[in-house]
Amino acid sequence: MNEALGRPRVVPRVSDLIGYTPLLELCRTETGSRLLLKLEMFNPTGSAKIRMARAMVDAAEERGELSAGGHIIESTSGNTGLGLAVIAAERDYTFTAVVDHHAAVDKLRAMKAMGAELVYVADDGSEDLATAAREEHAVGLARGKANTTFTEQHNNPANGAGYFPVAHELHQALDDGIDVLIAAVGTGGALCGTARELRLLTPDFITIGVEPKGSIAFGGPAHDYYQSGTGTPEGAEIGALVDYDLIDEGVKVGDIEAFATARAVARTGLLIGGSAGGVVHAALARLPLLPPGSTMVALINDGGEKYLDTIFNDDWMNARALLDPAAEREIEETLRKLRRNR
Ligand SMILES: Cc1ncc(COP(=O)(O)O)c(C=O)c1O
Repeated sequence: MNEALGRPRVVPRVSDLIGYTPLLELCRTETGSRLLLKLEMFNPTGSAKIRMARAMVDAAEERGELSAGGHIIESTSGNTGLGLAVIAAERDYTFTAVVDHHAAVDKLRAMKAMGAELVYVADDGSEDLATAAREEHAVGLARGKANTTFTEQHNNPANGAGYFPVAHELHQALDDGIDVLIAAVGTGGALCGTARELRLLTPDFITIGVEPKGSIAFGGPAHDYYQSGTGTPEGAEIGALVDYDLIDEGVKVGDIEAFATARAVARTGLLIGGSAGGVVHAALARLPLLPPGSTMVALINDGGEKYLDTIFNDDWMNARALLDPAAEREIEETLRKLRRNR
């Protein structure tokens, strides 16, 4: 074993590369409070979601729902689908992703490259209805079929359990403990799964959930938003994994602030996705208010490479009135100052 990594140096399967993601100190206040980023883009597929994809497949196998030659179905256009595509490829399952035309083309191509079957659901052009139509279609595809599982990420306890190792990785890495855990909330798996296990290891920390303005898990008003893979759009049900007992505070961040933050963080040499931009934005607002010497950990769900055509493309940003150079400069300046304290 390589002690530093916590896994053997050479592994036989892609899924053996899941986890043990690095921690990066983004910045520190003059009072010694630091913001650490748990870089989940270092997982295969470039996202945290492969942790829960594997856990959901393991759970289906344990329930006896899935065995050799089996079929996995999920409604996904994103990171969950990429994770399931990897696990299905490794275990010789068929994987059908029920997708719609809102999905990022590159994510769909990557799923297809790894052998996933894509089923497109027609919709009326609204994202909320697309989500509902996808779920319904996935249920229909799985109904009555032997050796088939609809993993139903919004309502699957294995989604949360897939993140228990994140808690152990943090506990192992941070001798002085954790004061604040902050993460995006979509299905709730990443934040609530990590928090549930971390409470058993180190009880004294607070959790902050972040969702886009327009999402409804932390109240209204509901409206469309561009932060992808996160939040709960109007019309969608708040996922069963969103456990309010495990979320001390809920914060909303608008698209403009989230994307300005992702773009400012990019100037430090790190590409993060739009939902992670929202998390870092909320974290930077909170960091100076923490008691001196605090440690805040932000879960960074994915990297920016998947968003080069969107949030890192000025034309795309301008066309949607999302570009705010003054906000970006201000965040860059804040980061520059705070980074001197490291
Ligand atoms: C980019 C991105 N951010 C945030 C989330 C939210 O994570 P969770 O669904 O675990 O709450 C996801 C999950 O799909 C995601 O893909």
